[in-house]
Amino acid sequence: MFTIRNVLILAASFALTANEIKAMPSNPEMSAELEQSARKDREISALKRTQEINEALINELRSQIQFQMSIINKLNGNSSINISCFDPTTIQMQLEESRKKFHRQSCQLKDDQLNSSLLIGCIITSEYITHYVVIRYLSEIGTIYVPCDYQLGAPGWMVIQRRIDGAQNFTENWDTYRKGFGYADNSDYFLGMERIHRLTSSRCYELHLHLEFENGSIAYAHYDDFRVSDEVSGYAITVGAFTGNTTDVLRGYDNVKFSTFDRNNENINCPRSGQSGWWFKSCSESNLNGMWNHFNWDSNVLRKSKMLIRPLEIK
Ligand SMILES: *[C@@H]1O[C@H](CO)[C@@H](O)[C@H](O)[C@H]1NC(C)=O
Ligand SMILES: *[C@@H]1O[C@H](CO)[C@@H](O)[C@H](O)[C@H]1NC(C)=O
Ligand SMILES: *[C@@H]1O[C@H](CO)[C@@H](O)[C@H](O)[C@H]1NC(C)=O
Ligand SMILES: *[C@@H]1O[C@H](CO)[C@@H](O)[C@H](O)[C@H]1NC(C)=O
Ligand SMILES: *[C@@H]1O[C@H](CO)[C@@H](O)[C@H](O)[C@H]1NC(C)=O
Ligand SMILES: *[C@@H]1O[C@H](CO)[C@@H](O)[C@H](O)[C@H]1NC(C)=O
Repeated sequence: MFTIRNVLILAASFALTANEIKAMPSNPEMSAELEQSARKDREISALKRTQEINEALINELRSQIQFQMSIINKLNGNSSINISCFDPTTIQMQLEESRKKFHRQSCQLKDDQLNSSLLIGCIITSEYITHYVVIRYLSEIGTIYVPCDYQLGAPGWMVIQRRIDGAQNFTENWDTYRKGFGYADNSDYFLGMERIHRLTSSRCYELHLHLEFENGSIAYAHYDDFRVSDEVSGYAITVGAFTGNTTDVLRGYDNVKFSTFDRNNENINCPRSGQSGWWFKSCSESNLNGMWNHFNWDSNVLRKSKMLIRPLEIK
């Protein structure tokens, strides 16, 4: 169960601002007309913005095509083409750069289609710090409380998993992993797969893994994209490009389904898969939800871990 103290409800309302109220005329006919014209203006500016982003996406695709054409030319023996185009590292870097740009631009497009009142990130303003993000309107599952993390010294991070003191047993079944469990305030905790799915499918999120090994050494893994599919498709994981100072363990995990001891979606039978809920691709890799004193990253046992997400546009 969640223990919720200190809950700060954010004003995520559709209410009119004071200025909008002042601007409202008293004549009802005038008012309807003005309202209609204001709505049209809003629609037009939203369309303009969509168009701008689409144009940027098209340009990006065009430059990718040009780049690939140059490789094709080279393969056909057209020697007028710069030889460095053929360098695998250059090709990889350019494709990766291009993929990132494309990813960010499509995320922007997705965000623009959302109501801006749906604040889905932890923020710091000069007046207050958000301890929890309260998410309403997202789904029929109701209000979602997600704790915030400021230990990284960066804004925006929401905690979806936390192992710090062993207070919570992570050997739980599918239904418990789906709903979430633990102590959201300051102890061991898991947000729940359904909420993680709803959040990461509502807009683009990045993932930060904070890892503390048994010997006290600290490492991090960052992915510029993180998504979890719906329950019917097994809460399958997708991650983007990696940065960090540990092994990129989740590379190659795209579309691996989540499994628990009572629902083995990947038909992998290893002792570890019976001990928690995780995306099991093989027996030998990492499992941040494993048993206390045994949970691990790249086969190195951890004493603490945190999984954090934040909307891509919060920096
Ligand atoms: C060789 O590449 C250049 C530059 O991309 C292009 O203008 C030219 O038509 C190509 N020649 C052949 C034979 O494909
Ligand atoms: C070839 O391409 C590389 C990398 O894009 C660039 O730095 C270099 O100036 C190019 N050389 C010529 C002769 O165009
Ligand atoms: C945005 O808010 C409006 C007004 O409350 C609502 O009618 C609309 O369905 C919302 N759109 C989305 C994508 O949630
Ligand atoms: C955790 O829960 C599992 C399943 O209920 C149980 O078998 C195991 O003994 C528990 N572990 C601890 C440390 O309590
Ligand atoms: C990884 O980076 C973090 C944050 O910059 C740092 O605290 C940690 O010591 C680094 N760990 C390794 C193994 O380099
Ligand atoms: C601690 O363990 C990690 C993981 O095994 C290893 O990468 C790191 O080098 C170790 N640090 C020290 C100081 O031994």
